[in-house]
Amino acid sequence: MHYKKIKNFPKGFLWGASTSAYQVEGAWNEDGKGLSVQDFNETPDGITDFKVASDHYHRMKEDVELMAQMGMKAYRFSISWARVIPEGTGAVNDKGLKFYNDLIDELLAYGIEPVVTLYHFDLPYGLYKLGGWSNRETIAAFENYARILFENYGDRVKYWLTINEQNVMINHPNAMNPGVIPSKKELYQQCHNMFVAGAKAINLCHEMFNDAKIGPAPNIVAIYPEKCDPADAIAADNWEAIRCWLYLDIAVYGVYNKLVWAYLEQRGYEPTIEPGDMETIAKAKPDFIGCNYYATATVAASRNDGTDCQARNGDQQIMIGEEGVYRAAKNDYLEQTEYGWLIDAIGLRVTLRRIYSRYNLPILITENGLGARDELTEDGKVHDQYRIDYLERHFAQALMAINDGVDLIGYCPWSFMDLVSTHQGYGKRYGFVYVNRGEDDLKDLDRIKKDSYYWYRDVIASNGKSITDMVDSQ
Ligand code: BG6
Repeated sequence: MHYKKIKNFPKGFLWGASTSAYQVEGAWNEDGKGLSVQDFNETPDGITDFKVASDHYHRMKEDVELMAQMGMKAYRFSISWARVIPEGTGAVNDKGLKFYNDLIDELLAYGIEPVVTLYHFDLPYGLYKLGGWSNRETIAAFENYARILFENYGDRVKYWLTINEQNVMINHPNAMNPGVIPSKKELYQQCHNMFVAGAKAINLCHEMFNDAKIGPAPNIVAIYPEKCDPADAIAADNWEAIRCWLYLDIAVYGVYNKLVWAYLEQRGYEPTIEPGDMETIAKAKPDFIGCNYYATATVAASRNDGTDCQARNGDQQIMIGEEGVYRAAKNDYLEQTEYGWLIDAIGLRVTLRRIYSRYNLPILITENGLGARDELTEDGKVHDQYRIDYLERHFAQALMAINDGVDLIGYCPWSFMDLVSTHQGYGKRYGFVYVNRGEDDLKDLDRIKKDSYYWYRDVIASNGKSITDMVDSQ
């Protein structure tokens, strides 16, 4: 759809940026923090662990000042469950509570809206040892943890996110399981338990506050069929339902997606649902949807002959296909980053339109960004024009989605500052702020504003007018 006149970003748009606790904080065993599964994940040789990360725990005030100078309206961060409740359940760590209390106050002093994720990949190890999400006790532990956060921060935090990328934890479970990777059957039981836990947190939040907004934060992307062959369209539909709609249908409509349930039953993956679970889930009504978007995926029809999972998409993004469901396909229309991640700015518009037309709820982009091997050059700067280009193209498509009628309330690129990537350590950077460290060499951990920092500052200052003008002139 082309428009004669482009509307600007709405007033009060939440221009922000994101991080997650274990990827930025460091201080992995300080001030009473318990350990999380991330502290036990073995990283490949030459790739850093999460012990120091970006040392944000010790430099929080300096970091928030940088956010304020960039003009950020919102900061999406996660709370480390094990910093607040070291074993995941039981005793509370006052120093951990204080860290986030101070962070929230610091943000608000600069007029930055805190957007708080309760849980971002870092399950306390104490709970993991007891079975983690396979153990229904973890549901109660999560509700108790949520209550503690709401009691302590609910007077100031108005935007909450329950669970980051539950769909990635189920579809790519390796980074969350330092031990044996659970079977699919067990993963879908964990998934169900997380659904109940997320719903309990939403219900609790709504019981405790009238003005708080809470929602899930899955990774949602449109899935394209490789060709206009209807069999490819079915495969795309299959994978979009299994990868995306399962998670949002539960969150918004309170029901299992029928197609996905059929898939689970056929394969014997269906979870045990305890009495009361679906009532809890149905009662929980999110106020908005958080969406992490990196790139679309493209799939072809399943052949169901034992070859669907064979890698056949060259070096295109982490997709392997699933026997009897879909095959991974190559998308020749898309560029790739140096890490092989696809770049699909228009896909963001497609994705936002699909989410909005299914659920009719406000959407907050909670992650989107470019991982690259940034270099600190001799002039002491980081010239990341490629990141500016990437974000400019994605902002433009977000604006088009707004013009299409999508209620997009904010955009929090990943990430505010450089942090430890989930698989590629510190080599792959996403931030607007460069952190001066290598994989092993911690150097001085100084913060250096990249070119994208100044660019984003100007975008925010004009409430995206430069993007609107660019789109308008095309
Ligand atoms: C998202 C996660 O999936 O992608 C983040 O929520 C992660 O935690 C981000 O860092 C980028 O992925 P990666 O693997 O490059 O760190």
